[in-house]
Amino acid sequence: MEKNIQAIRGMHDLLPEASPLWQAIEDRARAVLEAYGYAEIRTPLVEMTELFKRSIGEVTDICEKEMYSFADRNGDSLSLRPEGTASCVRAVIEGGLLGQAQRLWYRGPMFRHERPQRGRYRQFHQIGVEVFGLTGPDIDIEVVLLTRRLWQALGLTNLRLEVNTLGSGEERAVYRAELIRYLEGHLERLDADSRNRLYTNPLRVLDSKHPDMAGVIAAAPSILDFLGEESRAHFEGFRAGLAAAGLACTVNPRLVRGLDYYNRTVFEWITEDLGAQGTVCAGGRYDGLVEQLGGRATPAVGFALGLERLVALLEQTPPPLAPQVHAYLVAVGEAAQARALQVAEGLRDGLPGLRLMCNCGGGNFKNQFKKADRSGAPLALVLGEGEIERGTVQVKPLRGEGEQVEVPLADLAGYLAERI
Ligand code: HAM
Repeated sequence: MEKNIQAIRGMHDLLPEASPLWQAIEDRARAVLEAYGYAEIRTPLVEMTELFKRSIGEVTDICEKEMYSFADRNGDSLSLRPEGTASCVRAVIEGGLLGQAQRLWYRGPMFRHERPQRGRYRQFHQIGVEVFGLTGPDIDIEVVLLTRRLWQALGLTNLRLEVNTLGSGEERAVYRAELIRYLEGHLERLDADSRNRLYTNPLRVLDSKHPDMAGVIAAAPSILDFLGEESRAHFEGFRAGLAAAGLACTVNPRLVRGLDYYNRTVFEWITEDLGAQGTVCAGGRYDGLVEQLGGRATPAVGFALGLERLVALLEQTPPPLAPQVHAYLVAVGEAAQARALQVAEGLRDGLPGLRLMCNCGGGNFKNQFKKADRSGAPLALVLGEGEIERGTVQVKPLRGEGEQVEVPLADLAGYLAERI
């Protein structure tokens, strides 16, 4: 026998059984995003590699070792997108959307060649938001409130918010120099990764999870002591807005993010229930990126949430999920089988929200009822010779209480409308 071909490590099928939970999250997220007036944008899965290098930063884990890059047939270096922000910025510049404020959202697969483990995959899915053209802390507050509303819509209570500011580019440059000086004084205590990053990306040293580094990191200088007046006011405004909305957060001065484009506000929603990969949603402000990619200077802020991590959390306490199918049409006997598809089409015309599965492939009564049961539908509609003669259908509850009822075909859509 030939060997089975398997899915690529770290990339997973979403089998039908898992779909209802994903759909519930996506539907609720979309409803929340629409409630705040955000418009959907869709961009290609593949971009010029240069786009990610120039935005995420050459000296980041993503660009150094995690991108799926390949040469196109004409020799261009292309990459599967590792995240959505860079593509979104490219698209708003290219599409001429920067004349007025834009509130955008997207969803879809992202690709990073990371070491797979629980909550970390090579193809994963994000829902993200990017807002362009607004400078004040008010919009930073809005995007965080939007995420809180989404957790509420999903019934999630076990998430906490961490916030920080990275100041302006100039403030960060001064802080960076100071941090390097401090870390140079503790060289012998740095792990190999941190030594490598010391001169290229020293802020990422603060992100090290190496247990021996905890002491060095705890005593490192804090970005909060390097803020100028404007950055300080922005951060205070942000925190005051969250407090006014009754949203508690922790200031974590070591929260630096793994992508280079951020300035000022950064935030992460974290859970303790998923082990090491506990960041469910993360984002912040990136006021310099549009200009850096060739657009007119435009402030921006956004976030992305990881759908796999949300799904893993919700599997522990799933929200009520709508049945995939409301009713299963059983048709017994030749005449009934010949009419079944037609009856089903008539019902779908009469009741557009109806999710109706029609038995195909024949089978006796018992056999068809088994399939009806397996479909998960709460109702079976039964069409036999007698029903055809009388112009009726039997409606039989498959789950829970209730009697079988014979309903005239003409009244069936109305009857079902009250029960689905
Ligand atoms: P990020 O922190 O790289 O930010 O990713 C955001 C979220 O995507 C993470 O918090 C996590 O939930 C999920 N995620 C990331 N990598 C993986 C993975 N390998 N497997 C599973 N889930 C993962 C960004 O991507 C920024 N573009 C967010 C942003 C938008 N900032 C401003 N606008």
